[in-house]
Amino acid sequence: MCGIVGYIGNNDAKEILLKGLEKLEYRGYDSAGIAVSNEEGVHVFKEKGRIADLRKIVDDEVFAPTGIGHTRWATHGVPSQVNAHPHKSASGRFTIVHNGVIENYDLLKKEYLPNQELKSDTDTEVVVQLIEHFVENGMNIKAAFVQTLKLLKGSYAIALLDDQNKEVIYVAKNKSPLLVGLGDSFNVVASDAMAMLQVTNKYVELVDKEIVIVEKSGISIETLDGEVISREAYTAELDASDIEKGTYPHYMLKEIDEQPLAIRKIIQEYQGQDGKLTIDSAIVEAVKNADRLYIIAAGTSYHAGLLGKQFIEKSAKIPVEVHVASEFGYNMPLLSEKPLFIFITQSGETADSRAVLVHVKELGYPTLTITNVPGSTLSREADHTLLLYAGPEIAVASTKAYTAQMAVLSILADVTAKSKGYEPEFDLIHELGIIANAMEVIFEEKEDIEKIASEYLATTRNAFFIGRGIDFYVGLEGSLKLKEISYIQAEGFAGGELKHGTIALIEDGTPIIALATQESVNLSIRGNVKEVVARGANPCIISMKGLEMEGDRFIVPAVHEMLTPLISVVPLQLIAYYAALHRGCDVDKPRNLAKSVTVE
Ligand code: M6R
Repeated sequence: MCGIVGYIGNNDAKEILLKGLEKLEYRGYDSAGIAVSNEEGVHVFKEKGRIADLRKIVDDEVFAPTGIGHTRWATHGVPSQVNAHPHKSASGRFTIVHNGVIENYDLLKKEYLPNQELKSDTDTEVVVQLIEHFVENGMNIKAAFVQTLKLLKGSYAIALLDDQNKEVIYVAKNKSPLLVGLGDSFNVVASDAMAMLQVTNKYVELVDKEIVIVEKSGISIETLDGEVISREAYTAELDASDIEKGTYPHYMLKEIDEQPLAIRKIIQEYQGQDGKLTIDSAIVEAVKNADRLYIIAAGTSYHAGLLGKQFIEKSAKIPVEVHVASEFGYNMPLLSEKPLFIFITQSGETADSRAVLVHVKELGYPTLTITNVPGSTLSREADHTLLLYAGPEIAVASTKAYTAQMAVLSILADVTAKSKGYEPEFDLIHELGIIANAMEVIFEEKEDIEKIASEYLATTRNAFFIGRGIDFYVGLEGSLKLKEISYIQAEGFAGGELKHGTIALIEDGTPIIALATQESVNLSIRGNVKEVVARGANPCIISMKGLEMEGDRFIVPAVHEMLTPLISVVPLQLIAYYAALHRGCDVDKPRNLAKSVTVE
């Protein structure tokens, strides 16, 4: 979702900000802007559309050593030039960029700014006008900033320029991610470290309800109550090449291809010196001590959670519930006596998941985050973290994080099971190695998979994915992948469920993608395929070596039955990718979607 960058130093800020915003493009946005400050004043350039559109209107002649930038994913007000950030206060003295949602902006406007005319429809403009209002009423800028922040309800990451003090960027956050990066005679602000990796890899994490005064010579952090905070910087362990596309046409394809590497890296990271899988003993104890695990996640991570439940219940024999994060608050189940909450989140920033984390922490329950991003909000705020080691995932459609989540969950299940004294049914390291190799075998069949996409999905309005047992969960993920990047209405169903309603939608040629990787349900899922074929559906059966039958459209290599989702999802990811290409869609930046969903 929205992204923020800022720079204060001696060089021209424009290009640094624009490059930073380009690195944040993956988060999803619909307009962008920068404000740069020099002796002449604060110059704002903003535009609807892509950074490339913004670049066209930025005045090359302006040299300014300080600036802030923003990519906006519309929440309040349509995507437009007027609603794009930065926003200026009425007098033009203050300029702001903001991520998040100010829930009480309307009330604040009525109470403090009743006669103020606003230029945009955004909640953000109220914030900058409010700061100016307090300054006009006698406060200094810092006091006005703090006073404003204390009134805000909701989430925010803010960077603010004051035209009367060009030596400072004022920064604050609550619930929305924001970092300050440290350089030699310059400092930067960024929603994530990737944006400013071009100039520094040293970052300081910000905590909710703090303000940071960022100057080129240093930074100072205070709580809203004025307590000075000192915090060490950390080094972002990111390689700039990890976030480049290289020779790939799209990040999504690159990330699909990186899955074997990610699986091998996970094996390596979770393998102890004795060659056995190992996990921090405090985490294993936390899992063992729980009488029930509650997995909380959204989207693809939720789908990984459904499979994690299978792994953990089968191997470690601990009951697991899996909940959609955004619903948990309304439909909170009756909790067991000793719950452990496990948050699965690629980004570590998903607001829906974080809301649950905050709530269950208030209730005093132990928490574990499984994430791809060290130092992310959910990682910092949970008691424990397990990392995915998948490398940065840039494409909006999650691929390698999903298989990494399943791999890490299988390791958690395996290590916990052994620690409880259960004899493992198979050697997980060996089986994960087979998975990595099998993924590479599938990549050799990309041409065939591309044909499947064009045969079945080039023009269709809708598509259904069916499976039984764990294949059903993989179908859910396959349908999410397809719909989010190709805009085909795709739904996943348990094989037996279609005939309870959805079969009414089957018409001549409706594509049905059926998964058949489980011996125990192989015949039943094929029975379901026959039912839809009898009504005109166009079936595409994806089966596993050893279970294949005549007419199957694609056969994945054989892997351990419990781990088939790690392999059967790969052709589905590729089908979605090629279908989106055939339909002329923007694969990496699908419409309306954001990579990091930082508002509830
Ligand atoms: O960062 P998270 O894993 O918490 O994100 C959750 C979902 O927003 C995410 O998986 C989303 O569904 C992806 N676009 C799926 O490809």
